[in-house]
Amino acid sequence: MAFTLPDLPYPKDALQPHMSEETFDYHWGKHHKAYVDKTNGFVGEKGLEGASLLQVIRTAKERGDKGLFNNSAQIWNHSFFWQCLAPQGSTAPSGRLKDMIDSDFGGQDALLEKLATEATNHFASGWGWLILNSGKLEVTSLHDADTPVANGMTPLLTVDVWEHAYYIDYRNERPRFLKSVLENIINWDFVGQNLDGQGETRADQQG
Ligand SMILES: [Fe+2]
Repeated sequence: MAFTLPDLPYPKDALQPHMSEETFDYHWGKHHKAYVDKTNGFVGEKGLEGASLLQVIRTAKERGDKGLFNNSAQIWNHSFFWQCLAPQGSTAPSGRLKDMIDSDFGGQDALLEKLATEATNHFASGWGWLILNSGKLEVTSLHDADTPVANGMTPLLTVDVWEHAYYIDYRNERPRFLKSVLENIINWDFVGQNLDGQGETRADQQG
């Protein structure tokens, strides 16, 4: 079974003005789709037909197969990223997630500032992440296509800082993109589900 480009969990114009319909046309419709198409082109020739996306990612890493790893990991990262977003003001941290944000960072504003700083300072392409590590929330970033699911991490939230994520709406202004996204369109319900171990991403469901 070939991998497919997952549907967005909202209409392409639902996150405006923080993320435009045109950005989704390119970022989801072209970049994400290209990762899906390239991965599908690889799996047959590499003897991985029928493997799940996570199996493909982990096998590619073990083999040191950069082409397959980069494309398959980018499918997972983007599918997860779309689920991390929601229309402005539709969700807020609650329950265990809110308690842990308060205890581990001193509040939501402090968490968002730390994640924005990490992602702003990340050199070149990559992703900013909020992960669960040894029972605590932790902010980190990974380069290029690298993904927590290939590193034994539990991902809770991500933000894409490849230029293709912000150049249409914010040109070169990565900090302004991060502030706009992190402060307005994070799907905290999804983050909370990931913390509780219930956040099955659309990527996990593939294959
Ligand atoms: Fe991206």
